Amino acid sequence: MSVVALVPAAGRGVRLGLGTPKALVPVKGESLLLRAVRGLLDSGCVQHVVVASPPDQVEVVAAELATLPNAHVVPGGAERTDSVRLALSAVAEVAPDARVVLVHDAARCFTPATMIRDVVSAVEAGAPAVIPVLPVTDTIKKVDESGTVVETVDRAPLRAVQTPQGFNIDVLRQAYAAAGDIATDDAGLVERVGGKVRTVDGHPDALKITTAFDLAVAEAVLATEES
Ligand code: C5P
Repeated sequence: MSVVALVPAAGRGVRLGLGTPKALVPVKGESLLLRAVRGLLDSGCVQHVVVASPPDQVEVVAAELATLPNAHVVPGGAERTDSVRLALSAVAEVAPDARVVLVHDAARCFTPATMIRDVVSAVEAGAPAVIPVLPVTDTIKKVDESGTVVETVDRAPLRAVQTPQGFNIDVLRQAYAAAGDIATDDAGLVERVGGKVRTVDGHPDALKITTAFDLAVAEAVLATEES
């Protein structure tokens, strides 16, 4: 039975400010998207990837991924939720036997293969939903509207969530059927329909490239690895 990864990459990437969809921004000559999709397929446990692209850039994105035979591109929607929903509905055609589905950020293109395998294994072992997490290292404070601290939060039980998030496909379909228009966290949708979400260890390399600073760091790391 195959494992399919969905990559919602239909955003405009405004925060990076480069005037191009974030997923297509190159790091050392290769886009975040190409690196992320190849990383999923090379993990050895993902057979197909469905990418939701900006609707007017389907051909550009398909050309970007042309070297990867099991990468499929569908037009995304107005919000991330719509893009995931559209990619999820393509799974029936791409891999009708899929029982496990991952949802992954193109911006986390340096996610280690071991972490992808840990997520898939946990779903295959019976967990309805699985997320990779890291302990929170910053001190966290709650503030009021004026910015004055009202509480220092105990960070011991807090976790920062990465991707890929993994799901039993029926559970994700049910969660999306019940979801409203805007959801930023797929596992959160599963929680809302009463599903248990398990965690596995995340990894610092799976950082989300969001700002020009993150991009510069990624280029510097790759340059060090190559030298
Ligand atoms: O813009 P933001 O960082 O919240 O987007 C999160 C992810 O969702 C990005 O990978 C983006 O490409 C994707 N997205 C999408 N369809 C949209 C909006 C965002 O696939 N309509």
